Amino acid sequence: SIDVSTLSKQTGYTALDYGFVNTASTKSEITYIDGEAGILRYRGYPIDQLADNASFLEVAWLLIYGELPTADELAGFDEKIRRHTLLHEDLKNFFSALPSSAHPMSVLSSATAALSTYYEDGSDPANPEHVETNIIRLLAKLPVIAAYAHKKSIGQAFLYPDNSLSYVENFLRLNFGNMAEPYEINPVMVRALERLLILHEDHEQNASTSTVRLVASTGADQFASISAGIHALSGPLHGGANEAVLKMLGDIRDSGEGVHRFVERVKNKEAGVKLMGFGHRVYKNYDPRAKIVKQSADEVLAALGVNDPLLDIAKELEEIALADEYFQSRNLYPNVDFYTGVIYKAMGFPERVFTVLFAIGRLPGWLAQWREQNLDGQGRIGRPQQLFLGQPERQYPAK
Ligand code: ACO
Repeated sequence: SIDVSTLSKQTGYTALDYGFVNTASTKSEITYIDGEAGILRYRGYPIDQLADNASFLEVAWLLIYGELPTADELAGFDEKIRRHTLLHEDLKNFFSALPSSAHPMSVLSSATAALSTYYEDGSDPANPEHVETNIIRLLAKLPVIAAYAHKKSIGQAFLYPDNSLSYVENFLRLNFGNMAEPYEINPVMVRALERLLILHEDHEQNASTSTVRLVASTGADQFASISAGIHALSGPLHGGANEAVLKMLGDIRDSGEGVHRFVERVKNKEAGVKLMGFGHRVYKNYDPRAKIVKQSADEVLAALGVNDPLLDIAKELEEIALADEYFQSRNLYPNVDFYTGVIYKAMGFPERVFTVLFAIGRLPGWLAQWREQNLDGQGRIGRPQQLFLGQPERQYPAK
C-alpha cells in the first residue's frame, strides 16, 4: 500500500475513490478482517472464540485497551460502569419533548448528543481522565437511554437501572420489566443477547466508525462523535439493515408472492428492491458473524419456545440466493443483519428497536477507535479532496 497523502504532495496526484473502496483512512491495531477468507478477529482473538466464551464487557475492555482484562481489571470496570448507570433526572423532560412516534434510533442519537450537555466541563479530548470517565459514562448510560427509547415507542413507563444485575441482565430488565412486578431473568435470553452484542462490538472502518473518527478528528468530544456514529448506523445500507430484513421477510409472507418471485425482482433490480441482509463491502465470503447468528437463531428460538415462519422464509431465501448465479458472481452472502432480527423478534423486541441493539453492541468499538485515534498523536483533521466538475469562473450579469 502507498501513503497517498505524501504522494499527493510530491506529485499533485489526487485519487478519486467513491465509497472509499481503495482508500485506507487510518492505521489501526484493533480489528482484523480478511473478507476473502471470512475471518474476523478482535485484537487477534477469533470472533467465534470470543462469542462463545467471553462477556460483553470483557470484549469491550479488550477492544479499548488491547489485552483481555485480568479478573481484577474486569471487576473494577464492571463496578465503575454499574455506578454510572443513572441519567440526570432532567433528561426525562428531554424524552417527553419528543413525539411517541419518534424512531428509537433518532431518540438514541439525539439523547446521546443531549447527554453531553451535562458533562461539558468533563469532556476535554486532551484530558486522559476525561476520556476514561466518558468511556465509562457512555457504556453505562447508553443502554439506559436505548431502553428508554424502546419504552417510549410503546408508551410504557421508564424503569431505573438495578445495579445488582449484570450489564446484559440490567439491559433486558430495563427493556422488558415493568413497575408492577419483579422482572424474571431468563438465562437463555441473557446469553443469547450477550453473544449477539459481542458479534457487533467492532468492525474496523465501517461507515459509522469512520464517522466517529471523522468527527473526532475535528477535536470534538466522545458524546458528539458517538452521537454522529449512531446517526450513520441508522441507514438501511448499514445497521438499519436488520430492521429492513424483518420488514422484507414480513412483506414476502404477507404478499404471498413467494420467495422465488421476490428473488427474481431483486435480480431484475426493481427500484427499491434488494435482498436486505445480503452483501458486504469487505466480505466476499460468508460473514463469520452471520454463520454464528444463523446457528443461534435455531437454538434461541427453540429455547424460547418460538416458532417463527419468518425464519423459514429467511432460510429459503438464503438457499435460493446462494445457488443463484446473480449472487454467486457478485460474491453476495448473508451479512450479520440477515438472521439477527428473527432472534430479536423472538426475544420480544419490536422491529424499530433492532438497530438500537446494534448501536449498543457497537459502542465499545466506537469508543476504542475514538481512543486509538486520540492517542495516535497524528492530530490531523479528516478532510477529503473533491474533483471539481462545476462551472469555471463567470461574471454576475450587469444590472
Ligand atoms: N441485493 C441485490 N443485489 C446486491 C445486493 C443485495 N443485497 N448487494 C449488492 N448487490 C449487487 C449490486 O447491485 C451490484 O450489482 P452490479 O455489479 O450489477 O451493479 C453488486 O452487487 C455490487 O454491489 P455494490 O452495491 O457495489 O457493493 P457495495 O460494497 O458498495 O455495497 C452493501 C455493500 C451496501 C452492503 C450492499 O451489499 C447492500 O446494499 N446490501 C443490502 C443492505 C445490507 O444488508 N446492509 C448491511 C451491511 S452489513 C452492515 O453494515 C452491518
